[in-house]
Amino acid sequence: MAERPYIVGNWKMNGTRAMLSEARAIDRGAQRYMKVEVAIAPPFTLIHAVHKEAEQIGVGAQDCHPGEGGAHTGDISAPMIADSGAKFVVLGHSERRGDHGESDELIARKIDAAIDAGLRIILCCGESLETRDAGEAENFVLGQLKAALPDIADAGERLTIAYEPIWAIGTGRTAGAEDILQMHGAIRELLGETYGEDAANTIRILYGGSVKPDNAGEILSLENVGGALVGGASLSAESFLGIVNAAS
Ligand code: G3P
Repeated sequence: MAERPYIVGNWKMNGTRAMLSEARAIDRGAQRYMKVEVAIAPPFTLIHAVHKEAEQIGVGAQDCHPGEGGAHTGDISAPMIADSGAKFVVLGHSERRGDHGESDELIARKIDAAIDAGLRIILCCGESLETRDAGEAENFVLGQLKAALPDIADAGERLTIAYEPIWAIGTGRTAGAEDILQMHGAIRELLGETYGEDAANTIRILYGGSVKPDNAGEILSLENVGGALVGGASLSAESFLGIVNAAS
């Protein structure tokens, strides 16, 4: 199993230079929790500035274009992300799939570009409430992963999965322990079939969706939960470090 729990803050479209003080506070606070891997994914505009400040935490991006460069106005390539100092990229987030119509095929191409640029990947998956209520959550989520899991030999080092039920994102309502156990177990089984048991057991499966300091302990104690992908609670060093503390 992976060596350390992985707590990642996804700042989404939040973050001006005024947020650098929070990044510094997170970085300094994370130095008290060496048994936890801590990272944040700020907006592109802050990646370089946060990277320059960071001594302990990892810094990543929230998306990348599938191309290497060229005439794609407004887009950012994986090589540019790596050049900014970021070490990972979050891909397939439900907000990208929803807001930008990102398909599994496009996400798979983005993953290939990120791997070629030497970045680690956090691949997001998750179902809508309608899909869950229809009893199709597991089939849907595994279908997302089957369409995008990269064919690489070092998946254990390069790949992290984040299960984020859409209906739990930003709602204050987390998935229940039974739902998390079932889905993370199904994802772990698929990873074993894809990469072999040894490699699969080193791939951390993060849970995301309304993780807060007061619920993180229970969620992180569940089997096959290797950490958390945190939105709102990562914007404050105090609350984000409260989750890191729960993982320690
Ligand atoms: O990527 C993490 C995010 O989708 C979860 O958001 O605000 O529910 O923690 P939040």
